[in-house]
Amino acid sequence: MCGIIGYTGDGNDVLDVLMTGLSGLEYRGYDSAGIALTNGSLSIYKRQGELSALESALPEGGLDGEAGIGHTRWSTHGPPADVNAHPHTGPDGNVAVVHNGIIENYRALREELAADGHVFESDTDTEVVPHLIERELAAGADPEAAFREAVGRLEGSYAIAAVFAGSETVYAARNESPLVLGLGEDGHYLASDVPAFIEYTDRVIYLEDGEFARLDADEVVVTDADGTVVETSVETIAWDPEDAGKSGYDHYMIKEIHEQPDAIRKCLRERVEEMTRSITVEELANLDAPESVQFVACGTSYHAALYGARLLRERGIPAQTFLASEYDVDEIPVPPETLVVGVTQSGETADTMSALRGANRAGATTLALTNVVGSSAARECDHVMYIRAGPEIGVAATKTFASQQVALALLASTVTGAPSQSFVEGLRKLPDQVRTVLDDSSAREIAETYERADAYFFIGRKYNEAVAYEGALKMKEITYKHAEGFAAGELKHGPLALVTDRTPVFAMVTQGSKPQKTLGNVKEVEARDAPVVAVTDSRELVEPYADFVMEVPETHPAFTPILANVQLQLISYWVANRLGRSIDKPRNLAKSVTVE
Ligand code: M6R
Repeated sequence: MCGIIGYTGDGNDVLDVLMTGLSGLEYRGYDSAGIALTNGSLSIYKRQGELSALESALPEGGLDGEAGIGHTRWSTHGPPADVNAHPHTGPDGNVAVVHNGIIENYRALREELAADGHVFESDTDTEVVPHLIERELAAGADPEAAFREAVGRLEGSYAIAAVFAGSETVYAARNESPLVLGLGEDGHYLASDVPAFIEYTDRVIYLEDGEFARLDADEVVVTDADGTVVETSVETIAWDPEDAGKSGYDHYMIKEIHEQPDAIRKCLRERVEEMTRSITVEELANLDAPESVQFVACGTSYHAALYGARLLRERGIPAQTFLASEYDVDEIPVPPETLVVGVTQSGETADTMSALRGANRAGATTLALTNVVGSSAARECDHVMYIRAGPEIGVAATKTFASQQVALALLASTVTGAPSQSFVEGLRKLPDQVRTVLDDSSAREIAETYERADAYFFIGRKYNEAVAYEGALKMKEITYKHAEGFAAGELKHGPLALVTDRTPVFAMVTQGSKPQKTLGNVKEVEARDAPVVAVTDSRELVEPYADFVMEVPETHPAFTPILANVQLQLISYWVANRLGRSIDKPRNLAKSVTVE
């Protein structure tokens, strides 16, 4: 979690670069933010709250700076508070440090420094870093040596950047937290993620674990832990900065929901050939057909993985899905010829990375199914398949879930052989059918009817099971209301006790996913006075039992849940909107969860 940005150069106003970068990184954490600029001395401003709180604290005429760093925080050690916001500095105020990650040995370091007379102001793990650096400076080290020495003492995960009073250099180091360098014409950038500086440059270097970087206006030097210069490769990023704006929508989430037809189209491009009824994923050309598949993922990506595993099992490949945080290769057998697939939008989720690293150690073949080019998952797995959804800024995953499902359908088909005509046709029609759902949805009216409900339940069978879980997760995270998703058959084994006339039940009743049986469950809740919203491709079947019907077009049964999910996304969005929630940045959450 947390996002960091850094810049040195004379091509742009340092303050502008930092604030623009922080707004591009706010999805990573937004409970406080801060900046430090070097201008002979150090100017540090930090505030609890969203970026706007920091903006209001800045001097009206701007701030001069030769270099600077910034941070947007998602608290791990110490509550959101000005004093816990980054940058942190040491007793002499000669260095400012921003950090993303967790320093696991900070208690021991704090005790050691306290014994040397150091007094700490914050509750954070990060504050030990500037203290360590200043202790080295006081002992006569130059800034670079002091920075390296301090970082060498750290255990845990970090992307760290530091600036020193009287210097235009930005120093950085990385271990298990993302850090990317941007190479501009008139200066150099660093950030946790590319969107932070994409409007200035698209040429990037991904720092590897254990590497250090020194950024000056005219030079970037990357070194290893011993100080030996590392040869780096410069990549050009294809993302268009326009993609990351709100384009007239009130929230990124609703914009991204509407981008789904395009996102799916991009995922399918050059991979599906309708004439020859073939599916070819170039990235997977060297992937041997696995004997079995294990998926590891979290949150929404876990729901996509549930869907992918079902598709594979149906095609005869044993496939299991694990919550990444529960995947432990010491406990879970990984048979030879197993493919372990990490489904992760960001490619940086710590739980998923840890599971994938375990799978690598256990000798499995690993595949990253991710959205982010050059992410940790993409770099550390044996194979990578990109879902090509484009940047997703809203914390709630929407278009990336659709693209993950489509990518998983392509993966299932790639490893199991020739797809049926209806499967290929279903894929081809999908972008237009999603557009139809978006255009015709009555979600806004339904959300208005049920915005004050006590709780929301989502049920579905077979392909729709994963979407029931996803519908509930979306509702919880952006409305802060109680919501649960169930395999429809499970309702009567306990959750039915929760059903009342104040708990609308969203039931997905669609062809190919046991509609008659789900209808039986609909009748059970209807008999207990619960309002029913049926999401269906068979209106006549459900109409007698439903208060509202949300239609989805007919298609191959494997793709109906992708369409049904769009209806559920819209319901959650409009309930959250009616309740005035912070839709793009729900409380307590962050887009990229880089702590375990
Ligand atoms: O980047 P990842 O796909 O690995 O993220 C995993 C989850 O944190 C994520 O899917 C989360 O559940 C969603 N943002 C919720 O909408």
